[in-house]
Amino acid sequence: MYNKVLESVNYIKRKVKYKPKVSVVLGSGLGDLVNQIENQEIVEYEEIPNFPKVTVKGHSGKLVFGTIEDVEIVVLSGRFHFYEGYDMKQVTYPIYVMKLLGIEKMIITNACGGINKNFKPGSLMIIDDFINLMGTNPLVGTNDERFGPRFPDMTEPYKLYLIEKAKQVGKDLNIKLEQGVYAGFQGPYYETRAEIRMIAGFGADTVGMSTVPETIVCNQLGIDTLGISCVTNMATGIQETKHSHDNVVKTAQETSVKFVGLISGIIAELG
Ligand code: HPA
Repeated sequence: MYNKVLESVNYIKRKVKYKPKVSVVLGSGLGDLVNQIENQEIVEYEEIPNFPKVTVKGHSGKLVFGTIEDVEIVVLSGRFHFYEGYDMKQVTYPIYVMKLLGIEKMIITNACGGINKNFKPGSLMIIDDFINLMGTNPLVGTNDERFGPRFPDMTEPYKLYLIEKAKQVGKDLNIKLEQGVYAGFQGPYYETRAEIRMIAGFGADTVGMSTVPETIVCNQLGIDTLGISCVTNMATGIQETKHSHDNVVKTAQETSVKFVGLISGIIAELG
């Protein structure tokens, strides 16, 4: 796999002049951040050798390079979900590419359901830990020590110094930020009421279908990770109405101005 990733990276390096150290993975409905990127250089996923193929129609993924607040970044616009049928190595392939491209800090974002009753749709939460309920993870299988250790430590999956920075930016911009634990389910169905009761008991504050595999790989690769969740709905049984993807995307888009402000502010601090 190492050589495949190198091949992907060499292609990108030939095409793009930027050498960013910061990257952002964008969650559903949170794509507006891309509009903040100046002097863009775009690489479509489909042109990158060895990159997983996007199967969902109209979901063309791309890497968007450029600057925000004069800080060079690359945004992963479009992610691969486990529930789509990709294996865990495919889901996290872009993260390996980011590592060999020189990325040192990663901001992983998502849309999620709120379990903590103090949250509401539109709340933004700094993720301070995760619970992996996906039934597997991307590190299963043979390990290439060039990427990282066989048994990575997971004491601080989201770096405290990045959490503190995010909180400070939230204060400065007057954006209320929650903090808590993200539980990652496999999906694609929205959880049952009993499942939500169970993970509420486990200490989960939010629930979603992404982020955990990418976080695990970032930690193995030694990429400092920050996680930001956009609560688009309350989880099953907590909200009375049924879930719909349209509603998830709509709420994420309504939260977009706040979200984009926060992420841009954090990126400025990382420069
Ligand atoms: N559950 C899982 N994933 C989600 C949810 C949810 O309630 N909302 C947005 N993504």
